[in-house]
Amino acid sequence: MKILPSNITVSPKEDFFRIDTENTSYVIGIEDGLYLGHFYYGPSISDDSLSYRRKFSPWMTPTKNKRELAIFMDGFSFEYPGWGRGDTREGALKAVFKDGTERVDLIYQGYEITSGKAPVPGLPSTFDTEGEVETLRIDLKDPDTGLAVALYYSAFAECDVIARRVEVVNGGSSDVVLQRVLSASMDMPGRDRQGRAFELMTFHGTWAREFTREIRPIGFGRTGVTSINGKTGNRTQSFLGIVSPGITQEDGEVYGLQFLYSGNYSSMVEKVPSEDLRVSVGIHPEEFNWVLAPGETFYAPEVVLTYSASGLGKMSRNFHDLFRKHLIRGAYRDKKRPILINNWEATYFDFDTEKLLAIAKQAKECGVEMLVVDDGWFGKRNDDNTSLGDWTVNEEKLPGGLSGLSEKLKEMGMKLGVWFEPEMVSPDSDLYRAHPDWAISIPGRDITLSRNQLVLDVSRKDVRDYLISAISAILNSADISYVKWDMNRHMADLYSADLPAERQGELLHRYVLGLYDLQERLLTSFPHILLENCSSGGARFDPGMLYYSPQIWTSDDTDAYERIRIQEGAATLYPLSSLGAHVSICPNHVTGRTVPIRTRGHVALAGTFGYELDITQLSKEDHEEMKKQTALFHKYNDLVRNGDYYRIASFRDNGFFDCYGVVSKDKSEMLMTFIHVMNRPCNQDRFICLKGLDEKKRYRVTWAEDPEDQPEVVVEAYGSTLMNAGIIFPCLSGDFRSVLYYISEI
Ligand code: GLA
Repeated sequence: MKILPSNITVSPKEDFFRIDTENTSYVIGIEDGLYLGHFYYGPSISDDSLSYRRKFSPWMTPTKNKRELAIFMDGFSFEYPGWGRGDTREGALKAVFKDGTERVDLIYQGYEITSGKAPVPGLPSTFDTEGEVETLRIDLKDPDTGLAVALYYSAFAECDVIARRVEVVNGGSSDVVLQRVLSASMDMPGRDRQGRAFELMTFHGTWAREFTREIRPIGFGRTGVTSINGKTGNRTQSFLGIVSPGITQEDGEVYGLQFLYSGNYSSMVEKVPSEDLRVSVGIHPEEFNWVLAPGETFYAPEVVLTYSASGLGKMSRNFHDLFRKHLIRGAYRDKKRPILINNWEATYFDFDTEKLLAIAKQAKECGVEMLVVDDGWFGKRNDDNTSLGDWTVNEEKLPGGLSGLSEKLKEMGMKLGVWFEPEMVSPDSDLYRAHPDWAISIPGRDITLSRNQLVLDVSRKDVRDYLISAISAILNSADISYVKWDMNRHMADLYSADLPAERQGELLHRYVLGLYDLQERLLTSFPHILLENCSSGGARFDPGMLYYSPQIWTSDDTDAYERIRIQEGAATLYPLSSLGAHVSICPNHVTGRTVPIRTRGHVALAGTFGYELDITQLSKEDHEEMKKQTALFHKYNDLVRNGDYYRIASFRDNGFFDCYGVVSKDKSEMLMTFIHVMNRPCNQDRFICLKGLDEKKRYRVTWAEDPEDQPEVVVEAYGSTLMNAGIIFPCLSGDFRSVLYYISEI
């Protein structure tokens, strides 16, 4: 066995590759010297060759049995299936060649192991931070056409994550039209190690109702989640979870796949008669046609995979660690973010400098550090009908511009943040009047509006150059510390005035590449800016966007009761440090519900934390509560941002209380939130078993806030006691009540 100085092992015959992480192994093998097969993914194993797991008897393999080649092709566990050679399951790569043929037969060519992990040109990708990652590259080629594929695998050992990606090179002499290039495909057994049929876990939603978890049996045939609206969307997440039935936070197996991409996707599972599954993730083949000239390379976005033999909690922590350490970048990656107050729900479009300063002044007194001016500060934008694209300050509202405002804020000791919706244009704007062809629309046909706006064709360099110069002019005009980048509609009328007819099918992917280019250029020119992405709330909350912004606005639903479920869903996939969460006014503007301000604070503290309300309308008592909340943020945010997330109980499951905690990496402290969501008659104190502590350490459990009428120390006990015998939670009266506990090693 040849052990390379890495977690990638090659068998002596060089026909098997094993990629190891701390707790998992992933094995790829070559069948018959021809085809690359998927042999294993699961808990760590020690053998480097899995030839005994070959599915086909030697006499059935392609070189021995030409007679039944199609049967072989339709049953072999491909690592990256081609197209049109008898495999009737979902293919990964489909191309149309000059002669109209579509067959792609991918034959193994060779491999290479390199240290480190190169970035993917133009796309977000995970990166190595401490020289611990090595990359396996496997080359495949269709010998008849010269179409070549490179598969890349990088192991993030400590997070139990494998990052996969694909490059396609046209090695032929004429143009090839790529009709699908999926980023990952994996043929795997349909049952877990206890023989139970795997189920499919996904997230769905809509505006203000993002991140709803669904677990369903996997029926025969194809099923999954997709987006064809030009962005990730809020209807589903591209995440796929293949889970044991009855999966819990601690028990059951889970394979989790996430796609680092912000456009159309297809995340599918196919169950075939043998009960095996083919899992595939990539850019949605609908609305995708990419002309690849000879010698050109197509880069498919990255997919990250993790496996946990011990439930969903481990999967979440693996993804959190990966995203925090190997995906999110920039000045704020490891820093506490400023506590902000956003004026959207406070004023909507109806504001002026005086009103904003009145909000800022009172907010500052309560511990808020930054004012974010949301929609409405530019052009003639007094409602949502005009001016997107005209990024000049409305001096009627803000005399002296943003610089005047920022100077006044600075005097108060406050920072300034600003909202943009760069990808959009209002038909009623100077920009649209000057450049109607910059909008995505079909010449000579009716335009399809949404929120009275059109999408700018950011696949075009001239459009991007305009946007960068317009945004830069604003950011250079004042002392601005934060940008909220919004995107409030989906695509229609697909057509780019910049692309020839045969390349119109490239528009949506080029759009996403354009979006990434815009954000990269913005961050390069303004590295000090804290960027928060947003799309009508969480309609573009995906790992691709996390490469550019360390936080994303999770949902326009700021009702703390709704947020319990939304943030639970989001935290299954994304670190708490990335979840935009604010305290807003009650009755809530979306649901009309009233939740105590204390609970609203506790819920928002499990995210980036800020406010979105007209503080000048709040009572003195509410201001006092805000002061406590901002102090809590400063006290516990390092722990919340950097710690391990443990979901202890879910309101979704039990119907009346919710509980989660964050434990420091060294297990010396924990912040735990208990929310008594819905009261019941004859309610009783209840025991809750903590999670994530060190069994052998002794801890003190205290109230995280001022004790008020509660005893300071709740209990002192060993981790084993707290995690098995539990602690008693108080019987709180009323709905939507919450308490925070701080647990520290003694
Ligand atoms: C979207 C965002 C909101 C707000 C409005 C402004 O809906 O999600 O937070 O910024 O746009 O128009």
